[in-house]
Amino acid sequence: MSWVLLLGAMLPAIAAAKCGNVCETLELALPGLVTFPNTTLYALENSYWSARQSEARPSCFVTPRSAKDVATAMQVLVSKNAPFTVKSGGHTAFEGGSNIDQGVTVDLLYLTDISVSTDRQTVSVGAGNRWVQVSEVLDPLGLAVVGGRASTVGVSGLILGGGISYFSGRRGWACDNVRNFEVVTVTGAIVNASPDSNQDLYWALRGGGGSNFGIVTRFDLVSFEQGDLWASSLVYPGAMNQTLIPILQDLIVNGLPADPGAHTYFVMAYVPTFGGFIVLSDQFHDNPVDSVPEIFKPFHEIPVVLANNTRHANVSQLSRDIAGDSGLRQTWAATSVLATSAQLLLDFVPLYEAHVARLLAAAGQSLVIPYFIYQPISVNILQAMQVNGGNALGISPEDGPLVIVQLSVSWVDASLDDVVLSSRDRLLAEVNALAEERGLKKGFVYMNYAGENQDVQGSYGPANAARLREIAQKWDPRGKLKNLWKGYFKV
Ligand SMILES: Cc1cc2nc3c(=O)[nH]c(=O)nc-3n(C[C@H](O)[C@H](O)[C@H](O)COP(=O)(O)OP(=O)(O)OC[C@H]3O[C@@H](n4cnc5c(N)ncnc54)[C@H](O)[C@@H]3O)c2cc1C
Ligand SMILES: *[C@@H]1O[C@H](CO)[C@@H](O)[C@H](O)[C@H]1NC(C)=O
Ligand SMILES: *[C@@H]1O[C@H](CO)[C@@H](O)[C@H](O)[C@H]1NC(C)=O
Ligand SMILES: *[C@@H]1O[C@H](CO)[C@@H](O)[C@H](O)[C@H]1NC(C)=O
Ligand SMILES: *[C@@H]1O[C@H](CO)[C@@H](O)[C@H](O)[C@H]1NC(C)=O
Repeated sequence: MSWVLLLGAMLPAIAAAKCGNVCETLELALPGLVTFPNTTLYALENSYWSARQSEARPSCFVTPRSAKDVATAMQVLVSKNAPFTVKSGGHTAFEGGSNIDQGVTVDLLYLTDISVSTDRQTVSVGAGNRWVQVSEVLDPLGLAVVGGRASTVGVSGLILGGGISYFSGRRGWACDNVRNFEVVTVTGAIVNASPDSNQDLYWALRGGGGSNFGIVTRFDLVSFEQGDLWASSLVYPGAMNQTLIPILQDLIVNGLPADPGAHTYFVMAYVPTFGGFIVLSDQFHDNPVDSVPEIFKPFHEIPVVLANNTRHANVSQLSRDIAGDSGLRQTWAATSVLATSAQLLLDFVPLYEAHVARLLAAAGQSLVIPYFIYQPISVNILQAMQVNGGNALGISPEDGPLVIVQLSVSWVDASLDDVVLSSRDRLLAEVNALAEERGLKKGFVYMNYAGENQDVQGSYGPANAARLREIAQKWDPRGKLKNLWKGYFKV
């Protein structure tokens, strides 16, 4: 059925709706697919990775079973001017990222179709899947996609903001490997966005975020032949950071471009159970060789490890290993700098240590875990991002190599929220100021790691920010999504 017919079928329900509240109207239009407060289902749908998100109390959840249901929900929400948001995997850290107090949360949890094309080149993935659901289908087939690294993360948020993957060295980020998006626009139309149709929307959805443009219902992803990976997680005492950071920096500038099958990230953390600071180097290679790949040998020549988990594993297993628990309070923030100076990356460490000292002083006995993370955007990744006209992120090979500097804090006690967030902001400002002073600030803010107060699309550069705004205005001329879809990064 076309969307025009669908709209016709919907009109009586929409008219009737004007009198009742929006959740009752949704229940009329989508019988049995609305979840009201104080039910078991409501408690289940109101679970999120970050406790800050579960504290919102939506008036109801609506749980569409198909793109047509999503279109119906969109029409009701827009016609009633009802504030809403959309949840896929619910892994946004901040409150209101994909949940809403006294509004409607469209929970895509039932959009879990996954189908592999007969030529094995494309996997179509419903927008409510978590990454492990995708890899559990693909691993046994010897296939993979450029997707998330942690099992429980949702496909939608990760792709729409960019998407760093084990396979990014050869293929760019997840958004660069979408053949087609199926999207429900503000009118309730179901459209495709691909290199052949609605090219403007196709460009915007590759990094511009979903909430400005529409609700994606299906992603058609490039798939490729892939067996197990080689992986190594090395945990060192924090005191090794001065030795390890220069190894990482050399790897970003020289190692990764020479070996695009390799992938890595680098984490500093204050972990009470380890008795203080630790450094984690997580390493992956898409070729499951028998010994440590040449590129990672410099790390393995530093034998002072607290833990060494070196193995071959499928994507499902790896993604479970790094997923972590849900239910803590969480905040993230991010910036990016040129990776050309090891000294800069070394000089950030005392700034991070001061942040940790501030948090520990405030927290007393209450649990708080502050992380400081370096994630490479090496030149080979930037080159791979240029396919299909490039994505919306505004970073090119000439800008690189870059490293994302990511701050993250997990904690328990809500009374610490203000201290945590202000300390986070101070550290971010200090990191940016130091990079600026050295002429090494890039400023690209990765949406999927950004804090709620950061200007994400502005960081893509004025031309890309303006183009995103124009595309949003073209598809949503009355600014309904801008005003009604609350709580994320708006153009
Ligand atoms: C443990 C963990 C591991 C992570 N690992 C990685 C990683 O390996 N690589 C990486 O790049 N990032 C990673 N991230 C960051 C992750 O990409 C973001 O948190 C992302 O937003 C999560 O997507 P989600 O669907 O779970 O989030 P949600 O909170 O459900 O959604 C995020 C935003 O997208 C909107 N949205 C959701 N579904 C749709 C849709 N179908 N159409 C339009 N808009 C929609 C929501 O309204 C919200 O604004 C990780 C995060 C966590 C917590
Ligand atoms: C849900 O239950 C709580 C207490 O159990 C009550 O205060 C609240 O009014 C109820 N909400 C609704 C919408 O029924
Ligand atoms: C992945 O590997 C694990 C461990 O070897 C195995 O138990 C599991 O069945 C594999 N998963 C899939 C989906 O192939
Ligand atoms: C970094 O290394 C120095 C020197 O060994 C050490 O004093 C400091 O505590 C370390 N910092 C972190 C965050 O591990
Ligand atoms: C970690 O273990 C692997 C496999 O046993 C080994 O090859 C490597 O040298 C070890 N690395 C370190 C730093 O101990």
